[in-house]
Amino acid sequence: MPENLNRRTFLTAGAALGLGATAMGAFPQKGVGGKGPVAISSANGMAAVTRAMELMKAGSDPLDAAIAGVAIVEADPADHTVGYGGIPNEDGIVELDAAVMHGPTHGGGAVASLRNIMHPAAVARLVMKRTDHCLLVGEGALRFARMHGFPEIDLLTDEARKIWLYWKETNSKDDDRIPPPPDEMDPAVKKFFGEKYVREHGTIHLSALDTHGDVGCVTTTSGLYYKIPGRVGDSPILGAGLFLDNTVGSAGSTGRGEANLLNLSSHTIIEALRRGASPKDATLEACRRVVATNKSPRLQDAKGRPNFDVKFYCLSKDGRFAGASLWGGAKLAVHDGNAARLVECASLYDEALVE
Ligand code: GLY
Repeated sequence: MPENLNRRTFLTAGAALGLGATAMGAFPQKGVGGKGPVAISSANGMAAVTRAMELMKAGSDPLDAAIAGVAIVEADPADHTVGYGGIPNEDGIVELDAAVMHGPTHGGGAVASLRNIMHPAAVARLVMKRTDHCLLVGEGALRFARMHGFPEIDLLTDEARKIWLYWKETNSKDDDRIPPPPDEMDPAVKKFFGEKYVREHGTIHLSALDTHGDVGCVTTTSGLYYKIPGRVGDSPILGAGLFLDNTVGSAGSTGRGEANLLNLSSHTIIEALRRGASPKDATLEACRRVVATNKSPRLQDAKGRPNFDVKFYCLSKDGRFAGASLWGGAKLAVHDGNAARLVECASLYDEALVE
């Protein structure tokens, strides 16, 4: 197993295994219909929506387009919240969660705590297509991925390892580890723990609407930084980290997964859409529900507001889209045919989260 696998190596390995973006279990491609396609994603998804759009314009199924889009971010060592280069668990091991849903078949598949596989979203699609189950975890998910020819790699990049090591060295004054003096810190580590350091629950979500009005969606993540080994967030849980209904639209989330697990927020958004709410109102409803159910004092600021953030993304079947977050400053990436752009999300509180 190579220590580091760059994107070129991956593409070569993927091609050898027939795992190219559109070949990873693709649905039959459809002809291009009348309406323009739309792809929305979290702010780290500009390249992802661009790729998804290219594929849908060429007639791709929306889920295949979505998975190919997020595969770019899963392979990107610079994104420390998704796939290869993700920040590891407290033992220094990267564990990935991902889920997919397919509108036309109302199918869904997911993997959780998956190690050593760069593209968990593509494995989730195979869980959907090649098993009678919705979720495989841990060792079973890894064996399933191996069986389907996914190459194993070490997902921990040198940069992510150094970040994890610094976290370990500064975690407690009561152990024997000594962090490097500031002038000896690796520049990447220094930048990571910079002024606005937040213990992230970063992730990528992508919802796609094709020219026939069919939707597909995917959420993929390396989860909470330094998590307890085996901790699973909302991303691989259908209804929490993502949900869709081909008659109304698609939704997903990034941010503190536990808040979504306790509210099944993506399902909440789709049900609001079904009742006639706009994407903006539906995502704000999910935000309000998170606030209303956040009872734990350790998760509240001095004013009783959540001391964490959650972001929601929603794309309706007729091509309207919106995002909302608890705290201000969030953006979503959107491509509706011309170019990818970032759009402001609505928020419950105007100000950005201060930790
Ligand atoms: N939303 C990603 C996580 O909490 O793992």
